[in-house]
Amino acid sequence: MGIKNNTQNEKKIVDAPKNSRSEALEAKNTCNSLFEYAQFLYNNEENPEERLEISAVYEKIKEIFKNVRYDHGHLMLALQESEQVLNENYVYSHAARTTILTLIIGKYLKIPIHKLIDLGVAALLHDIGMLSIPQDLYLSSRTLTKSEKALLHKHPVYGYQLLDANNYSPAVKLAVLEHHEREDGSGYPQKLSKEHISLYGRIIAVACSYEAISAKRKYRDSADLHAGMVNILKNRNKYYDKAIMALINSL
Ligand SMILES: [Fe+2]
Repeated sequence: MGIKNNTQNEKKIVDAPKNSRSEALEAKNTCNSLFEYAQFLYNNEENPEERLEISAVYEKIKEIFKNVRYDHGHLMLALQESEQVLNENYVYSHAARTTILTLIIGKYLKIPIHKLIDLGVAALLHDIGMLSIPQDLYLSSRTLTKSEKALLHKHPVYGYQLLDANNYSPAVKLAVLEHHEREDGSGYPQKLSKEHISLYGRIIAVACSYEAISAKRKYRDSADLHAGMVNILKNRNKYYDKAIMALINSL
């Protein structure tokens, strides 16, 4: 599947002052490049050994981080307006958008660069366990049965196992395993709470939820990024790390 043009975003780029126009184009290219790569990673038909090859995934995140490091304003705009979220299988666009949001949060938390790259890799692969689950369970808007829901809730464990088999670091594997844990212990799969959840897991939880609320989907309109944030803020004390939420609020 190719990347769709986004005429609305193109227009804003053309209307922008010249230097800001080139930054906006670079941000758009960064987004598109990551969307394409995520599509490759989350494609069940490709050879899994080749897909999850560690050095290739790290190289991609390093390349993306160069842009995140200097310019997150244009990236946020490019993310807001990208139409790839309307594709049939939105798992890969979710992974790509979550990765950029995660890197921005990590940068503002002043996480050292080598750790930030680890964090970005974990964000890009956080839902890779979905590949072990029938697509119908996560792509449709129908109500799931209890057993279907239980299977869906295993995707962090399947992701952990997949990365373990491909020799990813403990920090990356743990972040993938814990991205659905919540501060009040209401998450899954281990019902961990507060400081028992790894920092990477807590950051990806915020970015991932923010993305899911703000993205367009085939079966519903998107909330905008601001509305997405308001929705998360309502639950900030229950579900999310306070320091990370305070930081997001200030961006
Ligand atoms: Fe997930």
